[in-house]
Amino acid sequence: MITLDHVSKTFESKGRTVRAVDDVSLTIGAGQLHVLIGPSGSGKTTTMRMINRLETPTAGRITVDGRDVLAMDVVELRRSIGYVIQQGGLLPHLTVAENVAMVPRLLGWQRHRRRERAEELLGLVGLPAGQFADRYPRELSGGQQQRVGVARALAADPPIVLMDEPFGAVDPITRKQLQRELRRVQAAVNKTIVFVTHDIGEAFLLGDQIALMADGRLVQNGTPADLLRRPATPFVTAFTGEDRGLRALEYTTLAEVADAAGSVPATDGDTLPGELSILEAGRELARRGETGVDGFWVSDRGGRKTGYLSYRRFAAMLGEALGPAGATAGEADGDALPA
Ligand SMILES: Nc1ncnc2c1ncn2[C@@H]1O[C@H](COP(=O)(O)OP(=O)(O)O)[C@@H](O)[C@H]1O
Ligand SMILES: [Mg+2]
Repeated sequence: MITLDHVSKTFESKGRTVRAVDDVSLTIGAGQLHVLIGPSGSGKTTTMRMINRLETPTAGRITVDGRDVLAMDVVELRRSIGYVIQQGGLLPHLTVAENVAMVPRLLGWQRHRRRERAEELLGLVGLPAGQFADRYPRELSGGQQQRVGVARALAADPPIVLMDEPFGAVDPITRKQLQRELRRVQAAVNKTIVFVTHDIGEAFLLGDQIALMADGRLVQNGTPADLLRRPATPFVTAFTGEDRGLRALEYTTLAEVADAAGSVPATDGDTLPGELSILEAGRELARRGETGVDGFWVSDRGGRKTGYLSYRRFAAMLGEALGPAGATAGEADGDALPA
């Protein structure tokens, strides 16, 4: 588990003081994929870089498993934290397998064990070792390089992985594929993942928890369902944005996607008419506000409960359909590989 307790970071830049992160308190639960979302410059990267001590907080305290990161040995800390950045950050003169095995090599693993581990992870991220292990990064597409970046971050089996807009620089179709794969990989390896994005679709698709930042501050933190039911302004905007792939949300009804009512135990919760589109249902849930349950019922025209949808599934469907915003491609923030 990771905690941030009233963490701030200011930079002095050209005689000005920049408040990059402003009094952020946040708990990131073990085994969770916690998304940090917000516009460019909202402090996401700085927040993430303070966790693995690439930056030092100006104020506040960060702990990993109860230990203050500033009191930990920095090498040991970084070993327990994988890091994936937007451009992959692969070393061009090393093969794919050597890139993946970088940290195991630093840890002194034997050659054959490193190779075995690299092959295993390449398989996990969908790059058959026989085909990819001995290539060089320049012989791979952008999406394939990002997969290698993910494999590398997992190589030494760190309990925590930080991912900073890892799919931001790849085309929308590849991106969708990488997102689906990350969900599969996360289910298989069960890491604590902090995932930075400024893409709401990606956040809904991937996040167990979503923390929304703006101007260095934490605006809202909660599950996708929380954000659906009491959305802060940017989320409302994202739902109603004109330039998004909203078609599927408009034309798919709840009745089409709900689980059969008989397959879930009877619980409380709202009932929504099955003929509502997913988009209408999102707006309706936001209008009704908060409840403590994990999903809602779907009824037929006679008012009979015919189906059930968990918020988790509902949010993932929204995420799938919203997809990357047109404006997000190619935003590079020039992060460097950690030393
Ligand atoms: N090393 C730095 N020196 C000066 N200002 C910085 C530095 N790093 C980040 N900033 C500033 O801090 C703010 C937050 O940046 P960042 O955390 O990179 O945001 P995000 O990742 O959300 O785009 C921005 O205004 C950025 O210009
Ligand atoms: Mg950033």
